[in-house]
Amino acid sequence: MPGKVAKIGTFSDWIGLFNDWRKDIGVNTEDIDAFHFDTLYGAIDTEEIEFGHYKGRRKWENLRQIPTQQMRDALMNMIVYQGDTEFASVEQQRNLLENAPTEWDRRAITRVMIEEMRHGWQMCALLVDHFGYSGKVEAQKMLERRAFENKRLLGAFNVDVDNWMDFFTYTDFVDRDGKFQLQMLKYSAFAPLGRSMSYMLREEAFHMGTGNDGLRRIVEAGVIPGWLIQKYLNKWISSSYDLFGTDHSSSAHWAYVWGVKGRYDEPKNDKAPDLDDLNDYNRNLYRDEVSGLIERFNGSLKAGQPKLYAPNIKFNRAIGKWAGQKYHAQTGEPLDDRAYEEHMKEYMPSATDKKLLLEIIETEKKWIAEKTGARDPLSTIGEVRKSAINL
Ligand SMILES: [Fe+2]
Ligand SMILES: [Fe+2]
Repeated sequence: MPGKVAKIGTFSDWIGLFNDWRKDIGVNTEDIDAFHFDTLYGAIDTEEIEFGHYKGRRKWENLRQIPTQQMRDALMNMIVYQGDTEFASVEQQRNLLENAPTEWDRRAITRVMIEEMRHGWQMCALLVDHFGYSGKVEAQKMLERRAFENKRLLGAFNVDVDNWMDFFTYTDFVDRDGKFQLQMLKYSAFAPLGRSMSYMLREEAFHMGTGNDGLRRIVEAGVIPGWLIQKYLNKWISSSYDLFGTDHSSSAHWAYVWGVKGRYDEPKNDKAPDLDDLNDYNRNLYRDEVSGLIERFNGSLKAGQPKLYAPNIKFNRAIGKWAGQKYHAQTGEPLDDRAYEEHMKEYMPSATDKKLLLEIIETEKKWIAEKTGARDPLSTIGEVRKSAINL
């Protein structure tokens, strides 16, 4: 938005906008209002740039040390995109606070929302503290876009997450894309960004755990049919594939060369990267992880239910070389127009499927197995933060 005027001068001004945003989107419940938000920095593995053209030199602590304006812009853009997804996810899930299946789940989603807000807060703290006037403008715009007005920067973050099947699938698989992105930024040559990641990653683990265990409880309960669960896996996992970005991306190429974003397995990968195919490389690592997790659900399936799987990497893609093409969700076989139309009905959730799902959730009390032996998510929320280094 060229010519946009920043209303904020300092980070405390930004906090004022953040408090308004919470009220505006309707998530300022008692638990959330009472939470004390903080900027948290943790340790990074090394002070030396880990890969790319500047490998071996000291990591940058501030903007002046970053060699070129192009690199500063690329870095700011990455922080903006990351922060945007954090606030977006709270907006997407905002209506679920009132209809949690159990009190444990209500407290778990409250914690997830608090931590996503903290992640957005952390990204905005970087923008305000390090990126000058344009950083302030971006931190302000971050609270002006809305997922439910289709204004968030990435497609998957404008879709409503308005039932608990969506919530668990989303936190298991979309938050897992988040983990991959954070891990790749943890190796960044911009040290304050790397240091922001360790606490965010620890918090992210709770979100993925909530999602993964929620899906296990659903599979174990055996009330929602396997074919319907599979449709939700197809929906959220295919859009998570897109979140890794286009194939042959030149911005991923330069982000690597400049040392600002590594490969997911960077420290243990001693092979030279294929700079032309970084996004797809990480996407495939993600798919391997997801496939393994789904394989574990299959162990809890009731007899006679079809095996669950991660959709083929070509299925339902909106970004990259498979975008807009027609492939089978399970096998990846190409399909013609008519066959594909039928296929989408069978493999993606339709309005009728959603109606059925909501009916099951409303009428079948045991649609999800109880959560047993777990500690209260809100009483343990502070534990990961105790060893935080606050700079
Ligand atoms: Fe997050
Ligand atoms: Fe998350």
